[in-house]
Amino acid sequence: MIYMNNNESYRSPLTPEELTEIVRNAEIHRYPAGQTEQFIQAYGEFFQLPPSSIAVRNGSDEWIQQICLFLAAKDRPVMMLDPDFSMYKICAEQFGRFIVTVPADPNFSFSIKKILKTIEEAKPSVFFLSNPHNPTGTLFPTEWLLQCAEAMEKAEGYFILDEAYYGFVRQEEPINWLNYDHVIRLRTMSKSFGLAGLRIGIAIAPEPTLKQLQKYQLPYPVNHLSTAIGTALLQQKEKVEAFWKEQREAKSQLERILKKVADRSEQLFLLPSHSNYFFLYGKDAVPFAKFCMENGFLPRLFSTETLKESCRFSIISPTDLISFEKTAERWIPSYATSKS
Ligand SMILES: Cc1ncc(COP(=O)(O)O)c(C=O)c1O
Repeated sequence: MIYMNNNESYRSPLTPEELTEIVRNAEIHRYPAGQTEQFIQAYGEFFQLPPSSIAVRNGSDEWIQQICLFLAAKDRPVMMLDPDFSMYKICAEQFGRFIVTVPADPNFSFSIKKILKTIEEAKPSVFFLSNPHNPTGTLFPTEWLLQCAEAMEKAEGYFILDEAYYGFVRQEEPINWLNYDHVIRLRTMSKSFGLAGLRIGIAIAPEPTLKQLQKYQLPYPVNHLSTAIGTALLQQKEKVEAFWKEQREAKSQLERILKKVADRSEQLFLLPSHSNYFFLYGKDAVPFAKFCMENGFLPRLFSTETLKESCRFSIISPTDLISFEKTAERWIPSYATSKS
Protein backbone atom coordinates (compact mmCIF):
# COMPACT_ATOMS: atom_id res chain seq x y z
CA MET A 1 0.00 0.00 0.00
CA ILE A 2 1.26 3.51 -0.79
CA TYR A 3 0.45 5.75 2.18
CA MET A 4 -1.21 9.06 1.37
CA ASN A 5 -3.17 9.33 4.62
CA ASN A 6 -0.90 10.92 7.21
CA ASN A 7 0.67 13.99 5.56
CA GLU A 8 4.13 12.55 6.09
CA SER A 9 7.18 12.87 3.90
CA TYR A 10 7.76 9.96 1.55
CA ARG A 11 11.48 9.81 2.35
CA SER A 12 13.94 10.58 5.11
CA PRO A 13 15.79 13.87 4.70
CA LEU A 14 18.99 12.23 6.02
CA THR A 15 20.87 9.26 4.53
CA PRO A 16 21.53 6.02 6.50
CA GLU A 17 25.23 7.05 6.63
CA GLU A 18 24.40 10.44 8.13
CA LEU A 19 22.10 8.81 10.68
CA THR A 20 24.78 6.27 11.61
CA GLU A 21 27.28 9.06 12.19
CA ILE A 22 24.86 10.90 14.51
CA VAL A 23 24.15 7.73 16.49
CA ARG A 24 27.88 6.98 16.73
CA ASN A 25 28.50 10.37 18.36
CA ALA A 26 25.42 10.33 20.59
CA GLU A 27 26.12 10.31 24.33
CA ILE A 28 23.18 8.14 25.19
CA HIS A 29 24.61 7.36 28.63
CA ARG A 30 23.89 11.02 29.62
CA TYR A 31 20.55 12.65 30.35
CA PRO A 32 19.58 14.77 27.35
CA ALA A 33 19.33 18.31 28.80
CA GLY A 34 22.37 19.60 26.88
CA GLN A 35 21.18 18.00 23.65
CA THR A 36 17.73 19.60 23.99
CA GLU A 37 19.42 22.99 24.41
CA GLN A 38 21.45 22.42 21.26
CA PHE A 39 18.30 21.59 19.34
CA ILE A 40 16.60 24.76 20.59
CA GLN A 41 19.65 26.78 19.59
CA ALA A 42 19.68 25.25 16.10
CA TYR A 43 15.93 25.75 15.66
CA GLY A 44 16.23 29.38 16.78
CA GLU A 45 19.08 30.01 14.34
CA PHE A 46 17.22 28.36 11.47
CA PHE A 47 14.08 30.48 11.95
CA GLN A 48 15.67 33.52 13.60
CA LEU A 49 13.83 33.09 16.87
CA PRO A 50 15.25 33.72 20.36
CA PRO A 51 15.98 30.39 22.10
CA SER A 52 14.09 31.60 25.18
CA SER A 53 10.89 31.55 23.09
CA ILE A 54 11.26 27.87 22.08
CA ALA A 55 10.41 24.66 23.92
CA VAL A 56 10.36 21.04 22.74
CA ARG A 57 8.18 17.98 23.41
CA ASN A 58 7.35 14.60 21.89
CA GLY A 59 5.40 15.87 18.94
CA SER A 60 2.89 18.70 18.72
CA ASP A 61 0.26 16.23 19.87
CA GLU A 62 1.82 16.35 23.32
CA TRP A 63 1.70 20.16 23.34
CA ILE A 64 -1.96 20.06 22.37
CA GLN A 65 -2.65 17.72 25.28
CA GLN A 66 -0.65 19.86 27.73
CA ILE A 67 -2.46 23.00 26.60
CA CYS A 68 -5.82 21.32 27.22
CA LEU A 69 -4.64 20.18 30.63
CA PHE A 70 -2.90 23.30 31.91
CA LEU A 71 -4.24 26.31 30.00
CA ALA A 72 -7.85 25.38 29.21
CA ALA A 73 -10.14 26.50 32.03
CA LYS A 74 -12.59 23.97 33.44
CA ASP A 75 -15.51 26.39 33.27
CA ARG A 76 -14.87 27.88 29.84
CA PRO A 77 -14.95 26.27 26.40
CA VAL A 78 -12.11 25.20 24.14
CA MET A 79 -12.82 26.57 20.68
CA MET A 80 -11.94 25.15 17.27
CA LEU A 81 -13.16 25.16 13.70
CA ASP A 82 -15.18 22.26 12.32
CA PRO A 83 -13.36 20.65 10.64
CA ASP A 84 -9.88 21.09 12.06
CA PHE A 85 -7.10 18.77 13.31
CA SER A 86 -8.79 15.95 15.24
CA MET A 87 -6.46 16.02 18.27
CA TYR A 88 -7.86 19.35 19.49
CA LYS A 89 -11.23 17.75 20.19
CA ILE A 90 -9.77 14.45 21.43
CA CYS A 91 -7.48 16.18 23.95
CA ALA A 92 -10.10 18.69 25.13
CA GLU A 93 -12.52 15.81 25.75
CA GLN A 94 -9.84 13.79 27.60
CA PHE A 95 -9.89 16.41 30.35
CA GLY A 96 -13.63 17.04 30.30
CA ARG A 97 -13.29 20.49 28.73
CA PHE A 98 -16.37 21.49 26.79
CA ILE A 99 -16.02 22.45 23.18
CA VAL A 100 -17.41 25.15 20.96
CA THR A 101 -16.96 24.90 17.20
CA VAL A 102 -17.35 27.21 14.22
CA PRO A 103 -18.74 25.23 11.28
CA ALA A 104 -17.33 25.55 7.79
CA ASP A 105 -19.51 26.82 4.95
CA PRO A 106 -20.58 24.17 2.40
CA ASN A 107 -17.47 24.92 0.29
CA PHE A 108 -15.24 24.42 3.35
CA SER A 109 -14.36 28.09 3.75
CA PHE A 110 -14.82 29.87 7.08
CA SER A 111 -16.41 33.19 7.91
CA ILE A 112 -14.23 35.47 10.03
CA LYS A 113 -17.43 37.17 11.20
CA LYS A 114 -18.72 33.88 12.63
CA ILE A 115 -15.34 33.17 14.24
CA LEU A 116 -15.16 36.58 15.93
CA LYS A 117 -18.78 36.38 17.06
CA THR A 118 -18.16 32.96 18.61
CA ILE A 119 -15.09 34.24 20.47
CA GLU A 120 -17.07 37.21 21.76
CA GLU A 121 -20.04 35.12 22.89
CA ALA A 122 -18.38 31.93 24.14
CA LYS A 123 -15.24 33.53 25.65
CA PRO A 124 -13.12 30.41 25.14
CA SER A 125 -10.05 29.95 27.32
CA VAL A 126 -8.24 28.35 24.37
CA PHE A 127 -8.79 28.65 20.61
CA PHE A 128 -6.90 26.10 18.47
CA LEU A 129 -6.46 26.94 14.78
CA SER A 130 -4.28 25.08 12.27
CA ASN A 131 -2.70 27.32 9.64
CA PRO A 132 -2.29 25.99 6.95
CA HIS A 133 -5.55 24.37 7.88
CA ASN A 134 -5.85 20.60 8.24
CA PRO A 135 -7.67 19.04 6.38
CA THR A 136 -8.36 21.70 3.72
CA GLY A 137 -4.84 23.10 3.18
CA THR A 138 -6.13 26.69 3.39
CA LEU A 139 -3.77 29.42 4.57
CA PHE A 140 -5.71 32.06 6.50
CA PRO A 141 -5.04 35.74 5.77
CA THR A 142 -2.73 37.47 8.23
CA GLU A 143 -5.42 40.09 8.85
CA TRP A 144 -7.78 37.33 10.05
CA LEU A 145 -5.20 35.90 12.40
CA LEU A 146 -4.61 39.31 13.87
CA GLN A 147 -8.34 39.81 14.40
CA CYS A 148 -8.57 36.40 16.10
CA ALA A 149 -5.59 37.22 18.31
CA GLU A 150 -7.13 40.53 19.34
CA ALA A 151 -10.52 38.95 20.06
CA MET A 152 -8.85 36.21 22.14
CA GLU A 153 -6.93 38.85 24.09
CA LYS A 154 -10.22 40.56 24.90
CA ALA A 155 -11.72 37.21 25.90
CA GLU A 156 -8.65 36.59 28.12
CA GLY A 157 -7.91 33.29 26.42
CA TYR A 158 -4.98 31.70 24.60
CA PHE A 159 -4.79 31.66 20.80
CA ILE A 160 -2.98 28.51 19.63
CA LEU A 161 -1.71 28.92 16.12
CA ASP A 162 -0.79 25.44 14.95
CA GLU A 163 1.75 25.80 12.15
CA ALA A 164 2.42 22.09 11.71
CA TYR A 165 2.84 22.52 7.95
CA TYR A 166 5.20 25.45 8.16
CA GLY A 167 7.87 25.14 5.49
CA PHE A 168 5.75 23.89 2.59
CA VAL A 169 4.85 27.47 1.75
CA ARG A 170 6.73 30.64 2.33
CA GLN A 171 4.63 32.18 5.08
CA GLU A 172 5.18 35.87 5.44
CA GLU A 173 5.51 36.95 9.01
CA PRO A 174 4.51 40.58 9.14
CA ILE A 175 3.38 40.03 12.71
CA ASN A 176 5.81 39.46 15.52
CA TRP A 177 3.75 37.01 17.52
CA LEU A 178 6.26 37.13 20.33
CA ASN A 179 4.74 40.49 21.25
CA TYR A 180 1.56 38.63 22.24
CA ASP A 181 1.68 36.85 25.60
CA HIS A 182 -1.48 34.88 24.85
CA VAL A 183 -0.39 33.52 21.43
CA ILE A 184 1.38 30.16 21.29
CA ARG A 185 2.59 28.79 17.96
CA LEU A 186 3.03 25.06 17.53
CA ARG A 187 5.41 23.59 14.98
CA THR A 188 6.72 20.11 14.33
CA MET A 189 9.62 18.30 12.68
CA SER A 190 7.12 15.65 11.49
CA LYS A 191 5.92 17.29 8.28
CA SER A 192 8.09 19.62 6.21
CA PHE A 193 11.26 18.31 7.91
CA GLY A 194 10.30 14.68 7.24
CA LEU A 195 11.03 13.39 10.77
CA ALA A 196 7.61 12.12 11.89
CA GLY A 197 9.12 9.02 13.49
CA LEU A 198 11.24 11.08 15.89
CA ARG A 199 8.35 12.93 17.54
CA ILE A 200 9.70 16.46 17.87
CA GLY A 201 7.08 19.12 18.55
CA ILE A 202 7.98 22.75 19.11
CA ALA A 203 6.13 25.47 21.00
CA ILE A 204 7.01 29.11 20.36
CA ALA A 205 5.79 31.83 22.71
CA PRO A 206 7.06 34.61 24.99
CA GLU A 207 9.11 33.19 27.87
CA PRO A 208 6.53 33.77 30.67
CA THR A 209 3.86 31.95 28.62
CA LEU A 210 6.19 29.02 27.96
CA LYS A 211 7.01 28.85 31.67
CA GLN A 212 3.32 28.70 32.50
CA LEU A 213 2.85 25.87 30.02
CA GLN A 214 5.87 23.93 31.27
CA LYS A 215 5.17 24.37 34.96
CA TYR A 216 4.63 20.67 35.54
CA GLN A 217 6.93 19.16 32.94
CA LEU A 218 9.14 16.18 33.71
CA PRO A 219 12.89 16.89 33.69
CA TYR A 220 13.73 15.45 30.25
CA PRO A 221 10.69 15.62 28.02
CA VAL A 222 12.43 14.61 24.75
CA ASN A 223 15.01 11.93 24.08
CA HIS A 224 18.61 12.47 23.01
CA LEU A 225 18.58 10.71 19.64
CA SER A 226 15.55 12.56 18.29
CA THR A 227 16.90 16.01 19.04
CA ALA A 228 20.43 15.02 17.93
CA ILE A 229 19.07 14.04 14.52
CA GLY A 230 16.81 17.12 14.39
CA THR A 231 19.78 19.36 15.24
CA ALA A 232 21.98 17.80 12.56
CA LEU A 233 19.28 18.48 9.95
CA LEU A 234 18.64 22.06 11.06
CA GLN A 235 22.36 22.78 10.79
CA GLN A 236 22.24 21.99 7.06
CA LYS A 237 20.06 24.76 5.71
CA GLU A 238 20.85 24.04 2.06
CA LYS A 239 19.87 20.41 2.47
CA VAL A 240 16.57 21.45 4.04
CA GLU A 241 15.89 23.98 1.26
CA ALA A 242 16.54 21.27 -1.35
CA PHE A 243 14.25 18.86 0.53
CA TRP A 244 11.48 21.48 0.59
CA LYS A 245 11.94 22.17 -3.13
CA GLU A 246 11.63 18.47 -3.91
CA GLN A 247 8.47 18.14 -1.82
CA ARG A 248 6.90 21.21 -3.44
CA GLU A 249 7.56 19.63 -6.82
CA ALA A 250 5.81 16.41 -5.67
CA LYS A 251 2.96 18.61 -4.45
CA SER A 252 2.50 20.33 -7.81
CA GLN A 253 2.54 16.96 -9.59
CA LEU A 254 -0.11 15.62 -7.21
CA GLU A 255 -2.19 18.76 -7.74
CA ARG A 256 -1.98 18.37 -11.52
CA ILE A 257 -3.24 14.77 -11.29
CA LEU A 258 -6.04 15.54 -8.85
CA LYS A 259 -7.17 18.56 -10.89
CA LYS A 260 -7.62 16.30 -13.91
CA VAL A 261 -9.65 13.89 -11.77
CA ALA A 262 -11.83 16.66 -10.30
CA ASP A 263 -12.45 18.14 -13.76
CA ARG A 264 -14.09 14.88 -14.80
CA SER A 265 -16.87 14.96 -12.22
CA GLU A 266 -19.54 17.53 -11.44
CA GLN A 267 -19.49 16.29 -7.87
CA LEU A 268 -15.80 16.43 -7.04
CA PHE A 269 -14.10 19.60 -5.85
CA LEU A 270 -10.42 20.12 -5.20
CA LEU A 271 -9.28 22.90 -2.87
CA PRO A 272 -6.01 24.77 -3.44
CA SER A 273 -3.49 23.74 -0.81
CA HIS A 274 -0.67 25.49 1.01
CA SER A 275 0.55 22.25 2.46
CA ASN A 276 1.71 18.74 1.48
CA TYR A 277 -1.80 17.34 0.97
CA PHE A 278 -4.97 18.00 -1.01
CA PHE A 279 -8.58 17.96 0.08
CA LEU A 280 -11.37 16.73 -2.18
CA TYR A 281 -15.07 16.98 -1.41
CA GLY A 282 -18.41 16.25 -3.06
CA LYS A 283 -20.46 13.10 -3.73
CA ASP A 284 -17.66 11.58 -5.80
CA ALA A 285 -14.89 12.12 -3.19
CA VAL A 286 -15.37 8.90 -1.21
CA PRO A 287 -15.97 6.71 -4.32
CA PHE A 288 -12.72 8.06 -5.80
CA ALA A 289 -10.84 7.47 -2.51
CA LYS A 290 -12.18 3.90 -2.33
CA PHE A 291 -11.16 3.21 -5.91
CA CYS A 292 -7.62 4.38 -5.03
CA MET A 293 -7.60 2.11 -1.97
CA GLU A 294 -8.61 -0.89 -4.06
CA ASN A 295 -5.66 -0.10 -6.30
CA GLY A 296 -2.96 0.20 -3.65
CA PHE A 297 -3.10 3.89 -2.63
CA LEU A 298 -4.34 4.79 0.84
CA PRO A 299 -5.84 8.30 1.19
CA ARG A 300 -7.46 9.63 4.35
CA LEU A 301 -11.18 9.13 4.84
CA PHE A 302 -12.94 10.70 7.80
CA SER A 303 -15.56 9.48 10.22
CA THR A 304 -17.14 12.81 11.23
CA GLU A 305 -20.46 14.06 9.85
CA THR A 306 -18.84 17.22 8.47
CA LEU A 307 -16.27 15.26 6.48
CA LYS A 308 -18.35 12.28 5.40
CA GLU A 309 -18.19 13.32 1.74
CA SER A 310 -14.52 14.21 1.58
CA CYS A 311 -11.03 12.73 1.47
CA ARG A 312 -7.43 13.91 1.68
CA PHE A 313 -4.34 12.82 -0.26
CA SER A 314 -0.78 13.59 0.82
CA ILE A 315 2.30 13.72 -1.39
CA ILE A 316 4.12 10.58 -2.52
CA SER A 317 7.41 9.93 -4.30
CA PRO A 318 7.87 10.87 -7.97
CA THR A 319 7.89 7.14 -8.92
CA ASP A 320 4.67 6.44 -7.03
CA LEU A 321 3.09 9.52 -8.59
CA ILE A 322 3.54 7.97 -12.01
CA SER A 323 1.52 4.87 -11.06
CA PHE A 324 -0.97 7.00 -9.11
CA GLU A 325 -1.65 9.02 -12.25
CA LYS A 326 -2.32 5.84 -14.24
CA THR A 327 -4.69 4.60 -11.53
CA ALA A 328 -6.51 7.95 -11.29
CA GLU A 329 -7.04 7.97 -15.04
CA ARG A 330 -8.82 4.61 -14.86
CA TRP A 331 -11.42 5.83 -12.36
CA ILE A 332 -14.95 6.18 -13.72
CA PRO A 333 -16.79 9.05 -12.00
CA SER A 334 -20.43 8.61 -10.99
CA TYR A 335 -21.20 12.21 -11.97
CA ALA A 336 -19.21 12.15 -15.16
CA THR A 337 -19.95 15.53 -16.66
CA SER A 338 -16.89 17.51 -17.53
CA LYS A 339 -16.73 20.85 -15.68
CA SER A 340 -14.79 22.55 -18.44
C1 LIG B 1 -2.40 20.48 12.26
C2 LIG B 1 -1.59 19.43 12.94
N1 LIG B 1 -1.05 19.71 14.14
C3 LIG B 1 -0.31 18.80 14.81
C4 LIG B 1 -0.07 17.55 14.27
C5 LIG B 1 0.73 16.55 15.07
O1 LIG B 1 2.08 16.69 14.80
P1 LIG B 1 3.15 15.81 15.57
O2 LIG B 1 3.58 14.74 14.64
O3 LIG B 1 4.26 16.77 15.89
O4 LIG B 1 2.51 15.28 16.82
C6 LIG B 1 -0.60 17.21 13.02
C7 LIG B 1 -0.40 15.88 12.47
O5 LIG B 1 -0.97 15.44 11.52
C8 LIG B 1 -1.38 18.17 12.35
O6 LIG B 1 -1.94 17.91 11.16
